[in-house]
Amino acid sequence: MDDKRPLRIGLIGFGCVGQGFYDILQRQPELGLTITRIAVKSPDKPRTLPAERFSFRADELLADPNLDLLVEVIDDPAEAFRLVSAALRQGRRIVSANKAMVARHLPELVALQREFGGTLLYEAAVCGSIPIIRTLDAYFSHEPLRAVSGIFNGSSNYVLTRMSEEGSDYGPALAEAQALGFAETDPALDMGAFDPRSKAVILAAHAFGLLLNPDEVLNLGIEGVGAADIAYAASLGQKIKVIAGLYRLPNGRVTALVTPQLLGPESPFFNVEHEFNGVAIEAEYAGPHFLQGRGAGGHPTGSAVLADVQALRSGFRYGYTKQAARFQAQLVEGLEVEVYLRHPSAAALGQALDWLRLPAQAVLPGTDGTQATGSVGLAALGQWRVALREAGVFVARLGEVGLIPEVPAEAETAHALA
Ligand code: HSE
Repeated sequence: MDDKRPLRIGLIGFGCVGQGFYDILQRQPELGLTITRIAVKSPDKPRTLPAERFSFRADELLADPNLDLLVEVIDDPAEAFRLVSAALRQGRRIVSANKAMVARHLPELVALQREFGGTLLYEAAVCGSIPIIRTLDAYFSHEPLRAVSGIFNGSSNYVLTRMSEEGSDYGPALAEAQALGFAETDPALDMGAFDPRSKAVILAAHAFGLLLNPDEVLNLGIEGVGAADIAYAASLGQKIKVIAGLYRLPNGRVTALVTPQLLGPESPFFNVEHEFNGVAIEAEYAGPHFLQGRGAGGHPTGSAVLADVQALRSGFRYGYTKQAARFQAQLVEGLEVEVYLRHPSAAALGQALDWLRLPAQAVLPGTDGTQATGSVGLAALGQWRVALREAGVFVARLGEVGLIPEVPAEAETAHALA
């Protein structure tokens, strides 16, 4: 492509991220990037630009041969997939920020790129402005990784920070995160850890070559968190953070999960506050790395979109090289973790202990039966995940995921005979 003439961009979506990207380009005309057309869904919504700037049919942009590349930043995953896959079928170059769409359709999106020669980049879909996908895909393309973990959701981290620093209640803290433009249109995606789960699934493809089904990855959210949990963590000198983790297990398989976790000052995530995200990479030969940056907001996410546009311009595409590593996933079966649980009602907590097969002795002394700790299988947590959420039980992990030790056959027999 002639690098001297301005690149003509078709922008689909003009919400928080779209406006952030647009604004950055207005401030940097020297980049030679022009947003030629903008498509939005609703003709009635008040906009910051005159009505004649907008088209109300994204398909018109797809059909426009004068556009050099497309940027899709809408929040409807089904429509985003329709548009992105149609663009890839035309062999186009397109940038997307839609994590739910990418996580759910990654195998098809990779196949479409291979078949039709188009390119899709989606750095803005994971951890806002942190350049984590390109770091994993390109820089660590041939380095085996041991773990990739972190805070992948700005809104829930903002809520936890406000609750712990200012003693805010959950509801007002969430309303602030929404007002600041960090939360999804449906904030249950943030607070229920569905959003960071999508991001973990995307990173699993680039870090380990794993194409995971998001529904099979365990996610526990913070809808049930309260001041008592923040205080319990503080009594141990710890904080609660929602940690997404991809970990290589001692048996060589890779596990993935997203849960609240209690962690202390020795953790790189301890001081990652407000809407900031942090990602730790444990590489086989290069050792530990840590990246931190704003995980949500129009300008940080718009900046990641811009980085992808420039990368497309220079011919960059993801290599997906880790697919050759042939890692296998082990998501819940055969795995356990130490957890903390709380419910304001002792009866409800008792029910949760039954579900998770924890003994009555798991209840913490002096808590009137409302708080407990114990070791539970990830399979049981996965099985009761929805019931725990609906019952309002807060669950956080206290440590790393481990393999459930196999009981030798003789020991089992001896136990049965005893
Ligand atoms: N709602 C998301 C978050 C936006 O809070 O992290 C960025 O993906």
